[in-house]
Amino acid sequence: MLFTPATIGNLKLENRLVRSATAERMADAQGKPLPQLAGLLERLACGGVGLIVSGHLYIHPTGRAHAEMTGIYADELIPDLKSLTDAVHAADGKIVAQLNHAGMHSNAPELNEKIAPSTVSPPYIETPARAMTIREIDMLIDAFAQAARRAQRAGFDGVQIHGAHGYLVSQFLSPYINRRSDEWGGSFQNRLRFLSAVARAIRVQVGPEYPVLIKLGMMDGIEGGLTLVEGAQVVAQLAEIGVDGIEISSGLGGKKLPRSKGIRKPADEAYFLPFARAARPLTNLPLILVGGFRSLGVMQQALQSGLIDFISICRPLINDPEFPNKLRIGTIEQSACISANNCWPKNVGDGVACRCPLEKISS
Ligand SMILES: Cc1cc2nc3c(=O)[nH]c(=O)nc-3n(C[C@H](O)[C@H](O)[C@H](O)COP(=O)(O)O)c2cc1C
Repeated sequence: MLFTPATIGNLKLENRLVRSATAERMADAQGKPLPQLAGLLERLACGGVGLIVSGHLYIHPTGRAHAEMTGIYADELIPDLKSLTDAVHAADGKIVAQLNHAGMHSNAPELNEKIAPSTVSPPYIETPARAMTIREIDMLIDAFAQAARRAQRAGFDGVQIHGAHGYLVSQFLSPYINRRSDEWGGSFQNRLRFLSAVARAIRVQVGPEYPVLIKLGMMDGIEGGLTLVEGAQVVAQLAEIGVDGIEISSGLGGKKLPRSKGIRKPADEAYFLPFARAARPLTNLPLILVGGFRSLGVMQQALQSGLIDFISICRPLINDPEFPNKLRIGTIEQSACISANNCWPKNVGDGVACRCPLEKISS
């Protein structure tokens, strides 16, 4: 099943393997992508993955998560972003733009402060954010929509709202972070309001045909955070607010989440499958599952279960962009990636790359 065609909204894909968004760290201080990013995306497209999701792109200067992150916050960036989509399309690939605002996780020292739904933050956040004003909420909803418009003009085949991993959309959904007492916080429907407004505003900008996806954190890892029951309720509402496909992941990090490091055997793979089991009965939208897929057998089994429609992978493609082609022609049956998370760069300019010692990979 893995190498059969399938669609997400109007997006026709040659196979069911997706490159999950991966912050490549290949942009300058203004968020302009460096030429090596086009080269990397071209290699991924040549490697046979059905759909590439870009690394998260910051939709507003207040929402940059880290240095060397690519931006989509101004029209001046469109020509550079187009060079990325041109490279992918020349290699017959497809690419959607992941749109993000980091909220309490923002790291833009020149701005002096961070903004988030409320001042509450988990213990691992050193500097708490300031609670956003209503005017700032409206401004960022529009910033997401304008970013989607830019993505469309830059030739992306769709957009993906980053609604996972404790970034801004995920912060609004989380009862742990979102302690607002106005219409943007409190009840489940109030916490959903920001995502709903973002998705609807994007739809107005890009029109009814353009693929709009979401990466959704269905559950937080900390006590008092978003529960899987509420995460499933979010899933149930996504079709109505104009979303075409859902990539299932986690929300805020924490101990309640399954282990994502050191995936060495099939039993450790597909660690978010229970989330898909909760989501499947509540939506007819295509479901993409990320999290620890490493071997052909586990991927095929997950697809055949009927719980999901697409498999998403990140670290195996950092290890080897040719991984999909090798799986397809049968050269290998599993990734050499050991999920040790050594792929993050230690120094500015190094970019994300596989840095696991060879002996570890082969052991
Ligand atoms: C180096 C690196 C960068 C990542 N960047 C992003 C990102 O920009 N956006 C995102 O949603 N997830 C990001 N992730 C998370 C992955 O997309 C994926 O959800 C996670 O690694 C689990 O999939 P895997 O087991 O196939 O690696 C990143 C992960 C890694 C290791």
